[in-house]
Amino acid sequence: MSIELTWLGHATWLINDGHHRILLDPFLNDSPTAPQKANEVDADFILVSHGHFDHVADVAEIANRCNATVIAGFEVAEWFAKQHDVKSTTGMNIGGSLTLPFGSVKMTPAIHSSQLPDGSYGGVAGGFLVMIGERTLYFACDTALFSDMQLLRDKGIDVAILPIGDLFTMGPRDSVTATNYLNPKQVLPTHYNTWPPIEQDAESWAEMVRAGATAEPIVLQPGQSHVIE
Ligand code: NI
Ligand code: MN
Repeated sequence: MSIELTWLGHATWLINDGHHRILLDPFLNDSPTAPQKANEVDADFILVSHGHFDHVADVAEIANRCNATVIAGFEVAEWFAKQHDVKSTTGMNIGGSLTLPFGSVKMTPAIHSSQLPDGSYGGVAGGFLVMIGERTLYFACDTALFSDMQLLRDKGIDVAILPIGDLFTMGPRDSVTATNYLNPKQVLPTHYNTWPPIEQDAESWAEMVRAGATAEPIVLQPGQSHVIE
């Protein structure tokens, strides 16, 4: 079974295992780099890492159109149910796992904030370990580098998706340290080049990874996919 991982710009990712479409942090209509609009993207499950607008903007529209289940931290999941009439939500919290038709999801810690766009309290930000078949994907989501990433080493991460934009999250250099903590087979950058304040040169990041870690760096353009065999 192969898994197709598509970058939809900014921190938005679509995972397709051939049977299920799992969308992470959809931010499409107002993203300057998104290759598709929200009404062009379908999902069965939508994972939401935290409450910031650049992660929640198109969640409700896609969830309501596709009857997708929104999986998020407890407060964020409640907000979608109450404020946006999302019919199927599952709230979870850091450290918890959830079994799903495609495998399982575990919510991991993140060092970041999580206020929702209307000022509502969004709980704490998280990341996700996504287990599909024999494969494990780790989305750090918006976070600083933190040493407990080392606890994820023994999860046997195949692919890690790490922010490199700096300013709001870890930057390129810290992401190389994170790569060493996590020891994935492959690492992909995210949360960069959406706007000038988070502009980064992904090719020099890839050079830094090759020089300072053992993982293979993979740089996608928005709209491109990486197939995990
Ligand atoms: Ni954020
Ligand atoms: Mn963000």
